[in-house]
Amino acid sequence: MGNFSSEVEKAFDNLSEIRRGKLDLRWMYANPSGWNSRARPRDERGLTLEDVNAVGTYGVVPERGGTHGSMAPRGCEVPPQTPSLGCYDLNDKSLVWADNVAKLYEEAVARQWSSARDVPWGELTPQPEDLERAMCQVCTNLSEVEFIAGDMPAKWLWHINHDFHEVKCFLATQIMDEARHLEVFRKRALANGGGLLAASPGSEELLRLIIEAPDYTVASALMHILGEGFVLTLFRNGEMFALTPVEKKIFRLCMQDEARHVAYGTMHLKYFLERHPEREGEIHEILRQGEEATFSLNLNRENAEARAILAGGGLDHIEEGIEKVRYLFMKQIQEYLHRLKVAGIDRSSRLAIPVELPL
Ligand SMILES: [Fe+2]
Ligand SMILES: [Fe+2]
Repeated sequence: MGNFSSEVEKAFDNLSEIRRGKLDLRWMYANPSGWNSRARPRDERGLTLEDVNAVGTYGVVPERGGTHGSMAPRGCEVPPQTPSLGCYDLNDKSLVWADNVAKLYEEAVARQWSSARDVPWGELTPQPEDLERAMCQVCTNLSEVEFIAGDMPAKWLWHINHDFHEVKCFLATQIMDEARHLEVFRKRALANGGGLLAASPGSEELLRLIIEAPDYTVASALMHILGEGFVLTLFRNGEMFALTPVEKKIFRLCMQDEARHVAYGTMHLKYFLERHPEREGEIHEILRQGEEATFSLNLNRENAEARAILAGGGLDHIEEGIEKVRYLFMKQIQEYLHRLKVAGIDRSSRLAIPVELPL
């Protein structure tokens, strides 16, 4: 045999023992209490994570993730010589968990869509120049902010202990969702005679706050509840900005995805605060900063003008558009405060920004 490392030589030894019929087979009888599992689908959704969690102790999610520090899947036997990889530092369930996370993962997988196939691109029609330019600006900005929504879960995902695989799976779907969002708005900008317009220097402050947030829960409160909450309300009112069936469909499809991200963030903050009430002040402080940054993002020239032109139906009707944007802002604030209340935080008297835009 050639010059191989001892590791490779050991693998050869294993192979030759197996060939000679000297089998180990101890693995066959590992984890006896986890044997005899018969997970069954409970409904038409098929065999879900929750169905599998209903079997034996496989659904018992520990408060503190496995201290072995390996990638061993929850519920298996972990041999004592399994090396710790030393890179998982989100080991407390309260730091990442939400009670709806397994369900949201299944919903995400079932509702994936394709921006290439599921948007009726053939129904785009030529638009007056002011409206096309406004749409392209809105799409440029949405594409810009969608990047953070993928980067934030990507930044934290690999820190999370594998015993919380439901959270990891869900965040993986979010990363895919956000990839689709950033490219669907890019496609719309390039599909109807226009193109990308200007990036928003004013948006970057909020995005920086999210990516540099000191821990996962703070980042999640900022992004899943505040940032994506505002975007969800915008998509929910997408009719206000849509020019053709194409934008209507895009907003509707993105809205379904955003609703999941916001639902996870809201329930995660609730789970976290129930266990760490002493951290409420810290969450208030980051939300205060986030509110100010969101306010300036919403009202910077390129976003506010483009949205008002679309909502009003053209430059000549911008006054009407501003009225509609005011209404949207009011809804954004109301829904934001409501979600926080569900999570256990009352910011109604502490908001750092007005509840209504001044006339
Ligand atoms: Fe998104
Ligand atoms: Fe999102």
